[in-house]
Amino acid sequence: MTATPDRRPMIGTSWKMNITVSGAAAWLAAARPLLEPLTAERDLFVLPSFPAIHVARTALAGSAIGWGGQDLHQDDAGAHTGDISGSMLADLGCRYAEIGHSERRRDHGETDAIVGAKVRAALRWDLTPIVCVGERDAGAVEPAWAMVEAQLEGALGGLGPTELERVVVAYEPVWAIGEGAAAADPSHVAALHVAIDAWLTARGAAIPRVLYGGSVDERNAAQLLACDGVGGLFVGRAALDPRRFAAIAATPIAGSPRVTTLERSA
Ligand code: PGA
Repeated sequence: MTATPDRRPMIGTSWKMNITVSGAAAWLAAARPLLEPLTAERDLFVLPSFPAIHVARTALAGSAIGWGGQDLHQDDAGAHTGDISGSMLADLGCRYAEIGHSERRRDHGETDAIVGAKVRAALRWDLTPIVCVGERDAGAVEPAWAMVEAQLEGALGGLGPTELERVVVAYEPVWAIGEGAAAADPSHVAALHVAIDAWLTARGAAIPRVLYGGSVDERNAAQLLACDGVGGLFVGRAALDPRRFAAIAATPIAGSPRVTTLERSA
């Protein structure tokens, strides 16, 4: 990708079920001075655990760094013990809501229909949905795309161009996520990103934003950002250290080698 005024790179992290409220204050205090200078050219965001969102609101106030939730309920209020609504996230100044991460699909049985309902809830509250999609098993491009396309259709199929324009898609191959995994290779990443971009564009999203997630670190960030169709990065465990996240967020983009081949991965 290249950094153009209408397509700023977006780099963010979800802490998942890591970092306590006290730890969040320390993380944010260390990260803010490193991240703030980068916001002139890129959109940065942090998704803490729910109890720590108010800490992010205080620590990031007055900066352009966004914060948000790792999930939200599809209803706006009511009898849903333990759940968090879009209104609650909006009230905490959240700009983003992550939806449909593979760990939520696995641990909470979230289907594409539920993901779609949550996307609509986020949009109702003016939150930017970050919708996670990705195939379960490592392999060739075609079966991966078949699964991702079904996820896109199931969750976003009913949305019109103005709604799709507000959605960020995170392509996160499940097999590339977490301890012991490695990021997908650039040719696979480019093939899937180009396909997701085309899917969104065909439905009227003028400037689709598709992030790559799955074992992103400071060593592979430049190569992943250089892949066709990659509009940014979504970082998990490497971002638990604020200095490492800042290093990833600062990855140079101009002059990075572009990956244009759409080779099939093995
Ligand atoms: P990881 O997580 O960077 O630890 O692989 C990525 C994600 O789940 O978004």
